[in-house]
Amino acid sequence: MTSQNIKIFNTTGPCYPEDHYMLPALPRLPDVRSLVDLKAYFVLHAPRQTGKTTAIQSFVAKLNEDRSYYALYCTVEQLKGMIDADAAMMKLAKKISTLLDHSNVEALKNLSGNAFLEELNSNNAFSSFPLTICLSSLCEKLDKDLVIFFDEVDSITDDVLLSLLTNLRTGYIERKLTPFPRSIALVGMRNIRDYRIKIRPDTQTMGSFSPFNIIKKVLTLSNFTPVEIASLYAQHSEASGQVFEEEAVQRVWYWTEGQPWLVNALAAEVVEDILRHDYTKPINASLIDQAADNLVRRRDTHIDSLLARLSEPGVLKVIESVISLSSTSVNNYKADKISGESYNNSLQYCIDLGLIKQEDMPQPANRIYASIIMRYLNQNVIVDISNDQANAWMDGNKIKMNGLLK
Ligand SMILES: Nc1ncnc2c1ncn2[C@@H]1O[C@H](COP(=O)(O)OP(=O)(O)O)[C@@H](O)[C@H]1O
Ligand SMILES: [Mg+2]
Repeated sequence: MTSQNIKIFNTTGPCYPEDHYMLPALPRLPDVRSLVDLKAYFVLHAPRQTGKTTAIQSFVAKLNEDRSYYALYCTVEQLKGMIDADAAMMKLAKKISTLLDHSNVEALKNLSGNAFLEELNSNNAFSSFPLTICLSSLCEKLDKDLVIFFDEVDSITDDVLLSLLTNLRTGYIERKLTPFPRSIALVGMRNIRDYRIKIRPDTQTMGSFSPFNIIKKVLTLSNFTPVEIASLYAQHSEASGQVFEEEAVQRVWYWTEGQPWLVNALAAEVVEDILRHDYTKPINASLIDQAADNLVRRRDTHIDSLLARLSEPGVLKVIESVISLSSTSVNNYKADKISGESYNNSLQYCIDLGLIKQEDMPQPANRIYASIIMRYLNQNVIVDISNDQANAWMDGNKIKMNGLLK
């Protein structure tokens, strides 16, 4: 046991084994290797903060290590907010060329981003199908097949998404003649069916072929099991000597149901903020309760971004009906065909966000989210009550007994 082995429970973005306690990421994506071997184009979707980026970055590194294929991880986050689809595809092609420079794979690095981009610019078709041409030119130059993961696909607008899919489809259907990546994954929060809905408003059409015909399979990531939570925490116990009592682990399950970010956030809250790195103190269930309470009150970025969704009208409608815990309100929305349909879409959206889980009845995905939602919904009521209270029994600084009794 040495202090050098002490790492942190990560609550800010993807995990890296040298810095963070973490569960092995590859087993979290058991089917991906066979999909790549089968040359599949597929979707990986899971709620925010479940470990998608962590898992696919590890997978890309592993593929490159294994040397059967070349693999690239490419987030499309930089295209966020862009509405000019052609400009966005051009930007993506440029981004891919810079990824080459940053790759630790010799063959990719040797291509040199600038030289590659110059060559693309001299191709007449580049401006019409920048991404198709970029990927096919890249594949042409490589002596092994290329696999590419596009992350944060939810962050782009409908037109840009349509263009991304059109570019991929064009390359895909011509890949017998012109080389194209053997396998492509779109990674995000939402399932492909939502992309289909998104790009099918009246004016937009992909012609008779849906780009989704090329998508073979949809994968998702699950939450941690109680055994996995215990094994994650055991890494800290081993490194620091600090004990997580068994009831504490059970309590974490009670609050989080294994939501990966929450599992880390509770541990970080206790270790760093409540016990201030005093590793002699064992972590018990009541410390976990205190940490859960702190998290709910403090509103970290992850929690804040979930709260931001609550203000979207469709989400709020679903949440209110779920919280009222009455099937009548769910059925009321369903009774009206149009609002029923939009209700179902909003419900699916809440499930994709990870806010709601669907069991017999839709319900908050875990107790921490439930507490956060309740706090949010009660916020206005709390403000109102405090105003009423001041009026009812206070007269300046003095208590009015009549008002208080009333
Ligand atoms: N393999 C893992 N082991 C432990 N915690 C993880 C693991 N993967 C993800 N997490 C937790 O989930 C959080 C979000 O991870 P990230 O990969 O950025 O998820 P996503 O891309 O789905 O938003 C991390 O900050 C960490 O708290
Ligand atoms: Mg991510």
